[in-house]
Amino acid sequence: MTTDFTEENAADAVIDSFAGTPDERLRTVLTSLVRHLHAFVRDVEPSIAEWEQAIGFLTATGQKCTDVRQEFILLSDVLGVSMLVETINERGAVGATQSTVLGPFHVVESPVRALGDTIDLVGEGEPCVVTGRVVSVDGTSLPGAVLDVWQADDKGFYDVQVPDAQPPGNGRGLFTADDEGRFWFRTIVPSYYPIPTDGPVGGLLLATRRHPYRPAHIHFIVTAAGYRPLTTHIFVAGSDYIDSDAVFAVKKTLITNFERVDDATEAARYGVTSPFRHAAVEIALQSA
Ligand code: BEZ
Ligand code: FE
Repeated sequence: MTTDFTEENAADAVIDSFAGTPDERLRTVLTSLVRHLHAFVRDVEPSIAEWEQAIGFLTATGQKCTDVRQEFILLSDVLGVSMLVETINERGAVGATQSTVLGPFHVVESPVRALGDTIDLVGEGEPCVVTGRVVSVDGTSLPGAVLDVWQADDKGFYDVQVPDAQPPGNGRGLFTADDEGRFWFRTIVPSYYPIPTDGPVGGLLLATRRHPYRPAHIHFIVTAAGYRPLTTHIFVAGSDYIDSDAVFAVKKTLITNFERVDDATEAARYGVTSPFRHAAVEIALQSA
């Protein structure tokens, strides 16, 4: 006998339709998705017009995506989902450097650079040196660890956002740590910046009266054979918006003092002008 599709049996009807899914994980994920999605719809009771508006929003989010623009990641970011996924996935990484969001601007390969090189190809902004060491959680150094670094400029833009103002690869570098796990490079102090607001995610922020700003930071993806890859940032201590990041990505342990150094000998050692800012970081990876 045919059973009518009702508010009460709707979720079960759809979930039963997945019974033959050979991939068990896929069946689990779809089952949970349908349970939560149906509960959400029963809670909100959208009108047909509201449902059409929701579909329109998701369509526009997809249409905004290009090779260098990822509006879906941005949506996940402003809803706190990216940070939730990060936080779930770093469970058990005791003693390791904390992770944070990837963000939508890791869209091109970073140019390979030598230790000590600059990632600033423009020459504007406050000179800065970043030095550090990659270690395992027990403090053993990790020679040959690879650090993919990217950052916004002193006006708060990534190279891919302003191709007329910045050459490709500006603010980006792929470095290999030395045989003691040490790394160092030159750059400029990044600015805080607004996440892109010219798409549907910007509309969502506007409608909810939320500001779009992220505190100043430098991104890292750090990898070493036998260790869990780490996606993280260092945040510039004292930056505007450090307490209200639009994507909820600040963790206290990642806030770094970009110390002002007024010492010509130290400046000459790194090949920068004095005064400059110095961020010293230790990055600890969890074994795989
Ligand atoms: C970023 O830090 O590049 C970023 C992260 C989330 C949303 C927008 C930008
Ligand atoms: Fe960023």
